[in-house]
Amino acid sequence: MIVDNFRLQLGGREYVPIVIGGMGVNISTTELALAAERLGGIGHISDAEVGYVCDQIFSTTYTIRKRKKYAIYSNNPDKSAVLFDLEEIAEAQKKYIAYTVSQKTGKGAVFLNCMEKLTMNNASETLKVRLESAMEAGIDGLTLAAGLNLRTLDLIQDHPRFRDVKIGIIISSVRALAIFLKRAVRLNRLPDYIIVEGPLAGGHLGFGPLDWHTFDLRTIVTEVLDFLKKEELRIPVIPAGGIFTGTDAADYLTMGASAVQVATRFTISKEAGLPAAVKQEYIRAEEKDIVVNMASTTGYPMRMLVNSPTLSYTIKPNCEGLGYLLENGGKCTYIDAYYKAMAVRKPGEKMTPTEKTCLCTGMARYDCWTCGHMTYRLKDTTNRLDDGSWQLPSAEAIFLDYQFSKDQEIRLPEREENA
Ligand SMILES: Cc1cc2nc3c(=O)[nH]c(=O)nc-3n(C[C@H](O)[C@H](O)[C@H](O)COP(=O)(O)O)c2cc1C
Repeated sequence: MIVDNFRLQLGGREYVPIVIGGMGVNISTTELALAAERLGGIGHISDAEVGYVCDQIFSTTYTIRKRKKYAIYSNNPDKSAVLFDLEEIAEAQKKYIAYTVSQKTGKGAVFLNCMEKLTMNNASETLKVRLESAMEAGIDGLTLAAGLNLRTLDLIQDHPRFRDVKIGIIISSVRALAIFLKRAVRLNRLPDYIIVEGPLAGGHLGFGPLDWHTFDLRTIVTEVLDFLKKEELRIPVIPAGGIFTGTDAADYLTMGASAVQVATRFTISKEAGLPAAVKQEYIRAEEKDIVVNMASTTGYPMRMLVNSPTLSYTIKPNCEGLGYLLENGGKCTYIDAYYKAMAVRKPGEKMTPTEKTCLCTGMARYDCWTCGHMTYRLKDTTNRLDDGSWQLPSAEAIFLDYQFSKDQEIRLPEREENA
């Protein structure tokens, strides 16, 4: 069996069952999402730090103006007054999403990865604006991520597209799914798809630094499929995390999954947003270089390359311009860690990096090299060039390899000497 023997049925439409997962702060770019959409699959963009992303793409000035407005707080650990303007979030979100969806040319779809944990010092209101603006701008689907999302559906239940837009949830256990479904049943709005993310995924994880290796995606997927059968719910299940070859993907489809969500293979694609030199770091990485740590200020474990520049940051918190991870009340664990380290620093001494990182800055600058566990195998997916660097494959080549390969083979991209 190969992936192409299967199709994902979603809302009366049929897709190639390959979903490129959302990768925050513009690693999953418009171009990457559109590559999947053109080939009949589903691509995600992410709305993490959407104002900042708009500034990079459209030369808008959301970040600079916010930084100026709140400059008086830059030496103040109390960031409670550093708030986003809801109208500006709506404007940025619509701009970014309209720009992406207006370029669709294929039979696939473009979904938005929307992380609940991006609390923006006003968790409910900002989440509502992000989701509603995305629907208004014509997004095909909303993938609710990084959080239990227990109240998320309530926030948008009055929106005219609430029942027509596709809505999915990312969970890492049957327990989290059952809790989410309870609320969804009460609103009579079940999710259209369920992404089951296992311990080998990139980004934030539902598994800790000490125990992630004791969990197994296949077992969790089986539990979810059994649970849905018992509850007589027919909702497509989409496993994610460590699905590295077309054969891995086809195995999940054979066991009853409706599609697979993949990301790591695409981090080094030409279309992905990481700078070219960082893509080479990903390809060069060995298994020992890939760690799960608690450096993220979200409180969730995160997987990243151990040499990520963000891990040696001693920068002043950057909440005036960014501030996407501020909890309600303007709290962030990096602010606490930074001022604690400042207090014990001896005059003239360099500050030592804290156990937390300024993730807003790290992600914005592509200094937080978050990655999936299988990153160490990327070197098996492309060609080494004469100058010692690695060729960056196109997203299309990777997508088609997932769709058509068999027997654990990975087809290398056509060699381009000057890639
Ligand atoms: C570089 C990178 C960034 C990611 N960022 C996010 C994110 O912002 N939000 C999210 O829900 N998942 C994120 N993920 C998880 C992916 O969307 C996906 O579910 C998972 O990584 C799939 O496993 P794979 O990378 O082994 O293919 C990220 C993954 C990677 C590799």
